[in-house]
Amino acid sequence: MSIAEKFVSMEYGPAPEDSREAEAWLERHGRRLGHFIGGASHAPAGGEYFDTLDPSNGEKLAAIAQGGIADVDAAVRAARAASPKWRAITPHARARYLYSLARLVQKHSRLLAVLETMDNGKPIRESRDIDIPLVARHFYYHAGWAQLLDQEFPDCEPCGVVGQIIPWNFPLLMLAWKIAPALATGNTVVLKPAEFTPLTALVFAEICQEAGLPGGVVNIVTGDGSTGEALVKHPDVDKIAFTGSTEVGRAIRSATAASHKRLSLELGGKSPFIIFEDADLDSAVEGLVDGIWFNQGQVCCAGSRLLMQESIAETLISKIRDRMSTLRIGAPLDKAIDIGAIVARVQLDRIERMVAQGVAEGATCWQPQVVLPSRGFYYPPTILTNVHPTSIVAQQEIFGPVLAAMTFRTPKEAVELANNTVYGLASCVWSENINVALHVAAQLKAGVVWVNCTNMFDAACGFGGYRESGYGREGGREGLLEYIEPAWFKHAPALPAVNGAAAVQVSEGEEKPDGSAPAIDRTVKLYIGGKQARPDSGYSMEVRSPDGHLLGEAPLGNRKDIRNAVEAARKAEPWAKATAHNRAQVLYYCAENLSQREGQVVDRLAAAVGEKQAAAEVQLGIERIFSYAAWADKFDGAVHNPPFRNIAIAMNEPIGTVGVICPADAPLLGFLSLVLPLLAVGNTVIAVPSEKFPLITGDLYQLFDTSDLSGGAVNIVTGHASELLKTLAEHDDVDAIWCYGGETIVAAAKAMSTGNLKQVWTNEGRVIDWFNPKQGEGRWFLEHATQVKNIWVPYGE
Ligand code: NAI
Repeated sequence: MSIAEKFVSMEYGPAPEDSREAEAWLERHGRRLGHFIGGASHAPAGGEYFDTLDPSNGEKLAAIAQGGIADVDAAVRAARAASPKWRAITPHARARYLYSLARLVQKHSRLLAVLETMDNGKPIRESRDIDIPLVARHFYYHAGWAQLLDQEFPDCEPCGVVGQIIPWNFPLLMLAWKIAPALATGNTVVLKPAEFTPLTALVFAEICQEAGLPGGVVNIVTGDGSTGEALVKHPDVDKIAFTGSTEVGRAIRSATAASHKRLSLELGGKSPFIIFEDADLDSAVEGLVDGIWFNQGQVCCAGSRLLMQESIAETLISKIRDRMSTLRIGAPLDKAIDIGAIVARVQLDRIERMVAQGVAEGATCWQPQVVLPSRGFYYPPTILTNVHPTSIVAQQEIFGPVLAAMTFRTPKEAVELANNTVYGLASCVWSENINVALHVAAQLKAGVVWVNCTNMFDAACGFGGYRESGYGREGGREGLLEYIEPAWFKHAPALPAVNGAAAVQVSEGEEKPDGSAPAIDRTVKLYIGGKQARPDSGYSMEVRSPDGHLLGEAPLGNRKDIRNAVEAARKAEPWAKATAHNRAQVLYYCAENLSQREGQVVDRLAAAVGEKQAAAEVQLGIERIFSYAAWADKFDGAVHNPPFRNIAIAMNEPIGTVGVICPADAPLLGFLSLVLPLLAVGNTVIAVPSEKFPLITGDLYQLFDTSDLSGGAVNIVTGHASELLKTLAEHDDVDAIWCYGGETIVAAAKAMSTGNLKQVWTNEGRVIDWFNPKQGEGRWFLEHATQVKNIWVPYGE
């Protein structure tokens, strides 16, 4: 046999990583592990344990404490007790602790990598070369933020005690993504690892001890979904950060709606992997290997939907099949293995079930000829072709090594197909034409776009989703915002329970209730698509001054009016696509026009809020418009420089169409303070003005009409906020809700937005001083009016 022939027929020998250190660690603990609470290990209060298995052979690795309500409570108490000291130490002292955690992760990297692979089933190559180095990087990066915190985020405070719930696909990496920013910003933590993969979190607990971290700053309670639920429902937790399935994300949104817990969700995805005909196909195929077969496809941002330009589909599929045939599947601790084991039997069953359903719906399934190990949970790399875009395998997350392939003809069609999903986590674009790639990247509704690369992650680059992939970012500057809030806001008092004047509903032409009402001096209409509109109901509501004087009538909007307004907002593309300079110009023009009408507006507003407040609202309103006109072309993104040959362009993108429930207390200034930051960055808005004085609508639409604001950019529907909110919150074409009011309406906004998981931003029922620019305007509003999209672009030959 010639050397050339040998080279082709040569087989790999086994190259197992040494697992003795990990086995010794398990033995040292008697293969029985408790919770980590207040700096020490604790047996579960209920005495219950469950087994964690090695998915490569189904054997038990250790018994793990099942956390109950009492364990969660003990952990939250420990975190609460540790909180005052932890937030009071200097940023530099916190930076030192985080730096020490980073160093110790590196020191124990081999143990961590091997144990991760044993518990999760992922190839050692991945845990050793990707997961653990990134864990260390996250602690280093956030050690830096801890150091800079006071300079970069003055007047901010940590949330307090944070509950964190993580999944099994990147156990230690998800821990790092959660714990590092929380600690850097002065929070204390109770973390619940996934039931399938708790081991590395418990090694991390020991690393915390080794680093001398004060007891109670980090607490780890192991257990299943019920443990997570207990943490979510614990009344003394200030924030929940969750990564996992969209279904559980929804349950958490619903469970926290009536509380003031802050919430960030990193949920599922069905990310498109778009390959244009001019792409370097061999590189794209290598990218795809990473995109869908990395970590057995159990990756929230897996490129699970392949979208190929029709002209290259055949060639590409053939290349992909050839490459799939070379993937080696087997024992995860073998250093020459590409695909390891699926995390658990239940996940394997789910993959098998979904593929069978896809085939039943018409897909063609292809798998290479591979011999799967006889024990353990394995699934071969799989490609499904002839997939219809509505098929379950094109729409739902499979979370396995399964690729669903579809074709497109034009870039426009590619974008439509790519965005045809409820998710929006990640996406890939492959084309040698950088103009096409970036043009497409800008149109994709996803938090991350990888151009000619795949699965690039770095602590400096925020990660997180659009739409039902969740909200909030992890990593980067924006990731820190999830763990801090303005100090004044944290301590703001609650609004009084009853707010605003109660408007009385009367039918058209009906006699006015008091008969003796003075002449109606003002009747306004709705404002939809740049035009005044009558309400669908034909009803209106009386608006009275505080002393009961009839001031006028405002339409009583209903569901139909909101739907029309949403449609108009969706169509207001000229505004969404206008340049920042143009948006600024229109806003300046609004200020100019309000200034010209100042006297009349003050007079009318004075009837509802008194002369002094009316004058201040208009004067400050003009200033506020100026502020956001100024911001419109200055709220820029950033260019990150991750430690690879890539740049990551972090763009502040508008959220889309936003429903705004305006505060009652300052009818004009409150409206402007919420609507303007949204407009400044290119959102379109449906606003429900204050019920106290909805007549302000008349002045507003005159203002917008005369200031060249494109029709549909702002739509105003007057009526009962609590009723209109429901339609806004449940509408699938509304991307976010801003709700400013009392406790009841704020809780309702959160609860009603559970179904489609839209972002909700509220005042938490607290008083905001709209007359104080420190509270009523600025970056805090703009940060909530945007979402960051990171576009990664490689450079070099
Ligand atoms: P899961 O969402 O049930 O589990 C994630 C974490 O949430 C675990 O720690 C779990 O114990 C906890 N949890 C479960 N129910 C809870 C509740 N009611 N309240 C609080 N915490 C709760 O995910 P699961 O069942 O392990 O996987 C099912 C599917 O979810 C996967 O097939 C995949 O499609 C998706 N998934 C997505 C992930 C992502 O990163 N996007 C990660 C894990 C799963």
